[in-house]
Amino acid sequence: MEIPFAENYRIKMVEPIYRSTRVEREKWIREADYNLFNLRSEQVYIDLLTDSGTGAMSDRQWAAIMTGDESYAGSASFYKLRDRVRQLFGFDYFLPVHQGRAAENVLFSVLVKEGHIVPGNAHFDTTKGHIEFRKAMAVDCTIAEAFDISVDHPFKGNIDLGKLRMILESHPKEQIPMIVVTLTCNSTGGQPVSMENLREVKKLADSYGIPVVFDSARFAENAWFIQQREEGYAETTIKEIVREMYTYADAMTMSSKKDGIVNIGGLLAMRRKDWFEQATVFNIMYEGFITYGGMAGRDMNALAVGLDEATEANYLETRIKQVEYLGSQLIDAGIPIQQPIGGHAVFVDARRFLPFVPVEEYVAQTLAVELYLEAGVRGVEVGTLLADRDPKTHENRYPENEFLRLSVPRRTYTNNHMDVVVAALINIFERKNLIRRGFRIERETSIMRHFTVRLKRLGEPL
Ligand code: F0G
Repeated sequence: MEIPFAENYRIKMVEPIYRSTRVEREKWIREADYNLFNLRSEQVYIDLLTDSGTGAMSDRQWAAIMTGDESYAGSASFYKLRDRVRQLFGFDYFLPVHQGRAAENVLFSVLVKEGHIVPGNAHFDTTKGHIEFRKAMAVDCTIAEAFDISVDHPFKGNIDLGKLRMILESHPKEQIPMIVVTLTCNSTGGQPVSMENLREVKKLADSYGIPVVFDSARFAENAWFIQQREEGYAETTIKEIVREMYTYADAMTMSSKKDGIVNIGGLLAMRRKDWFEQATVFNIMYEGFITYGGMAGRDMNALAVGLDEATEANYLETRIKQVEYLGSQLIDAGIPIQQPIGGHAVFVDARRFLPFVPVEEYVAQTLAVELYLEAGVRGVEVGTLLADRDPKTHENRYPENEFLRLSVPRRTYTNNHMDVVVAALINIFERKNLIRRGFRIERETSIMRHFTVRLKRLGEPL
């Protein structure tokens, strides 16, 4: 008999979770106005809302917490983290920040001005937000295959070089402050970018004199997919792959809450001294002095260890295999999901899953609420609610895909928990013909409405 794969860690500390009843959940979700962000975490059995800041630290990281240096200036923890960043990514200049969007805020304060254009691969919401807030525009140059869930492509995060060239060709250099490449591409389903694509993007950018910035939240998962899927990298270590990836970037922003395997934190690193000097001013203004930037010394220590662990193949194998375990069972059950399965999450195609719910009634949100009611599992809508309204017409923007995202926190749940998610989705899939109505919006804010939106159920009351 073949020896099966198992997690490469054992558990040293546990956190009890409460398995609620359907009657309780019906009450709670009604009180939450059918917005899963409004639930208390105790009302959730298995929380797949996000993989951001929800992972479990290792014993080495907890040990590092105890030796954090909390000095305001010149903290030893800062230097430990700076050395790790230099060693992994090869950038000389480094600033800690409190999370990913803070890194965007600091760097974009230096680079992005009104009227600018920032091409990239399906920019993450906060990245796009920080670009649009400065009255600049984010232009999506992701390959078309990324948006068709039935097309199998090993690197659905790739940039379409033709599209990118067209943008670079049709605008003056001064109007394009940078190209942002997101690794892995969250918005298309945790999909990786190939080394070849990174190399080509950099070559093209160089020929137009435009810098390249990597949004690096899930850079290690991206490196894993390069090792597994790209010719010539099977024998290269993850750390070597990361090092090569970042030779094609001029700067990086990072939310450390993902592949840093810490609960809070972020960073910013770059090659150019002039950017660093300007960014330093914004960092001090928005985040804190340059040797802590909104992070406690102990957290910088834990992050330095987390970055090392996240770039080890045995960690990544366990991590990616768990997401694959969830996704492949859904595929076997005939449930439509984005393929190939992404690095941090499974993206369920809600339109195909619930074909009778009109898209105007927020079909991915409808599926998210059904899943919560069925088993206390919390996912998140990545669809029309998230896409918000057109700023000019105030009409809903309907994205190409209506996804229910099931993000798997790192080292947190077991495969038994994944089995619960699979069974719950299969149960709903079996009764999909009975689910015909969704929601209408009762109250919403003008920006980032999905966090606070209040919904009213249409059709049969619960
Ligand atoms: N970039 C990417 C690709 C992200 O996925 C996120 C956050 C950020 C930047 C911003 O980082 O939250 O630390 O400020 N993504 C989380 C998610 C929130 O659930 O996907 P942050």
